[in-house]
Amino acid sequence: MEKQWKRPHRLVLVPCPFQGHINPMLHLGYILHSKGFSITISHTQFNFPNTANHPDFHFLPIVDGFSDRVVSSGNFIDVISSFNNNCRAPLEESLALVMETREYDGEITCIIYDEYMYFAAAVAKHLKLPSIILRTSSAIHDLTYNAIPGLLKDGHISTQDADPILLESVPGLHPLRFKDLPITNFKSINDLLQLIANAHETRTSAAIIWNTMDCLEGKSLAQLQQQSQVPLFAIGPFHKIAPAKSCSILEEDTNCIEWLDKQACNSVIYISLGSIASMDKKELAEMEWGLANSQQHFLWVVRPDPTTTCSEWTDSLPEGFIEAIGERGCIVKWAPQKEVLAHGAVGGFWSHCGWNSTLEGLCEGVPMICQPYFGDQWVHARYLTQVWRTGQEWGDNMERGEIERAVRRLIVDKEGKEMRQRAVHLKEKIDICMSEGGGSYNSLYELVGYILSLKI
Ligand code: UDX
Repeated sequence: MEKQWKRPHRLVLVPCPFQGHINPMLHLGYILHSKGFSITISHTQFNFPNTANHPDFHFLPIVDGFSDRVVSSGNFIDVISSFNNNCRAPLEESLALVMETREYDGEITCIIYDEYMYFAAAVAKHLKLPSIILRTSSAIHDLTYNAIPGLLKDGHISTQDADPILLESVPGLHPLRFKDLPITNFKSINDLLQLIANAHETRTSAAIIWNTMDCLEGKSLAQLQQQSQVPLFAIGPFHKIAPAKSCSILEEDTNCIEWLDKQACNSVIYISLGSIASMDKKELAEMEWGLANSQQHFLWVVRPDPTTTCSEWTDSLPEGFIEAIGERGCIVKWAPQKEVLAHGAVGGFWSHCGWNSTLEGLCEGVPMICQPYFGDQWVHARYLTQVWRTGQEWGDNMERGEIERAVRRLIVDKEGKEMRQRAVHLKEKIDICMSEGGGSYNSLYELVGYILSLKI
């Protein structure tokens, strides 16, 4: 049996309860656990993780009073406000109780919270504990957030009209265009500014942790450090530094790995739009025909639409499609994505460019077709196509001929092969960054020392 030793320091981690935020927070938990800390995950009841997958962690539920339906039908800013309004008192009470009863081995040393769960900073302050922010997106996305007040002041964008001259470059943020800014899909820019102000409030927090690395975002990180009052620690990519058992809320269909095992090297395009974005019925149909006509092999994640009454999830696909594609395609509700991207058969990734998917693709040297939907995804798509040059930009014409050409360009053509070469080169740089002496390795070492030195 593994020898148990006493871990004198406990960290309380507070994730934002959406898949794209739960994953990096749990991975951060594994990284810090490997450095000798005890870990408590304080999570809303909504989207509560499968604790059986994480026996090394202690879980402390936050009674939130939410129903899945209310959260998934709500506007993002309203949902985040509700989390912050509802969760403060329950977290404070449960932590005060465990501190009083000394229920845990190890003193609580610090609370680490997702930037959108900013109520946790107030809880920490009240309990006289230090706190640290986790930013789950890219450094460049944060720079764009920081630039928005200045762009408003200088009249480049306005609170009335969220539609500036779209293709013009944003001053100071080359190569981003106004259309890449994360300002669409919000009810109003004023709401967005309020969200940024809350999420960026660092007066009571001791540091900021990033799931990124200097070999990818060195310039953006240096700029952010100049703008910040507290130290920044870029210790990514989390999922490679401390691989974990599944953090998925939906069940992963592992049969697709057996299917991948039968495919040739770099021959498969993997299509997944993360946990929120989805195609409408018409787009799905065009995608199906585009994939079929491309004659390429594909693995496609089609999440069940919770609003339809289809008894079978595949009812959303045209009749006969699955039979027609035969062994050439594999369709699943939810894939073990990291394993899929690491598989040698996968030669391309059609992605919405969420930050986790972007990092997961980059870490495996997989070139991408970039189809952003909202928020930070636009910025990542622009960086993938213009800065890292491992992705091709997808326009907004979901038409079968375009899809067929894009897939063939990535998997078959010279252009795709060159992108793959650049992606493999970048993967090597990321590997160096994580290994001894690399940027993320050093930053993690410093973070551990910093946490141990914290006093309120
Ligand atoms: C959301 C936002 O959309 C994203 O832009 C932001 O950066 C984080 O929050 P999401 O849309 O879910 O996240 O995208 P992404 O960041 O890519 O995270 C999705 C996660 O789900 C990834 O870790 C991916 O590996 C995982 N996933 C996705 C699976 O495990 N299986 C799947 O089939 C699809």
